[in-house]
Amino acid sequence: MRAHLLGIEGMRVEDLQTLLENSATMLEVSERVIKKVPTLRGRTVINLFMEPSTRTRTSFELAGKRLSADVVNISESASSTKKGESLLDTAITLESMSPDILVVRHSASGAPHLLAKYLSSTCVVNAGDGLHEHPSQALLDCLTLMRHFGEIPRGKTVAIVGDVLHSRVARSNILALSLLGNRVRLVGPPTLVPASLGHPRCFGHRVSIHHSLREGIEGADVVMCLRLQRERMSRFYIPSLEEYSRHYGVSERLLRQHAPDAVVLHPGPMNRGVEIDSDVADGARSLVTLQVGSGLAVRMAILVTLAATKGTVEGGAV
Ligand code: NCD
Repeated sequence: MRAHLLGIEGMRVEDLQTLLENSATMLEVSERVIKKVPTLRGRTVINLFMEPSTRTRTSFELAGKRLSADVVNISESASSTKKGESLLDTAITLESMSPDILVVRHSASGAPHLLAKYLSSTCVVNAGDGLHEHPSQALLDCLTLMRHFGEIPRGKTVAIVGDVLHSRVARSNILALSLLGNRVRLVGPPTLVPASLGHPRCFGHRVSIHHSLREGIEGADVVMCLRLQRERMSRFYIPSLEEYSRHYGVSERLLRQHAPDAVVLHPGPMNRGVEIDSDVADGARSLVTLQVGSGLAVRMAILVTLAATKGTVEGGAV
């Protein structure tokens, strides 16, 4: 039986915890002089990225290489979808070359789910689908908090600030953080953080909505800043960037006043001076670079876990 990683939705808390624990054991590989283990020798990973990416694509590529898999990268500009081929036909063509894992990023919500349905022998990983989910990002954010707090985050107050409406990062994080037993505050203007997201039937009782930044971050343990996903906006959601950043830009001064002990996450890419000030991004409370290292470890754990569902992997542990 092959498995997929399509989202955090529907995941059991035990599976989430196991993935985080396995990810933590992968961190050490990247500290070695020879950053390579034989776990996925003879396995093939294809990264099909139909949207821009720096962190996610590079870390999935490095994750596969550090595990000794053969890794192939395909970007939108270099794929036959540019010649009119459908995504499904591209994926079926790639499957004919017997990859073990297909990592997919696509602007359409649900694209990886479609491929998982029609491919017969390949494990599919969702590396971000439209404004739906980005499960490996949520896992890496949880691993980053686990490294900071010394244990899987539980009982923390996490303020997610900014363009929640268009953010697959927010959606996956809301699901993962609340599943682990944290309180999640969604903070932003009503156009980007609609009240309906706070309805218990949407994300459960651990999620609340705040339109005031001060109120939303008050006493928070973690503040996660989100980029405005302007490529996914179909109309005007904010009056101007200046006005948005005046009301919702996270600054060191504000954190000192309202959340003095908070650590700060940002999935990147950052728009400095819009959703986050440089004094926060580069300051002592920023976990942004830790997030990037966590991303590599999480993606190694994901590849090993999925490859194991298609047969044994060498040694299991690294
Ligand atoms: C995020 C994404 O692509 O959804 N970036 C990432 O994967 N690190 C967030 C964003 O683009 O703002």
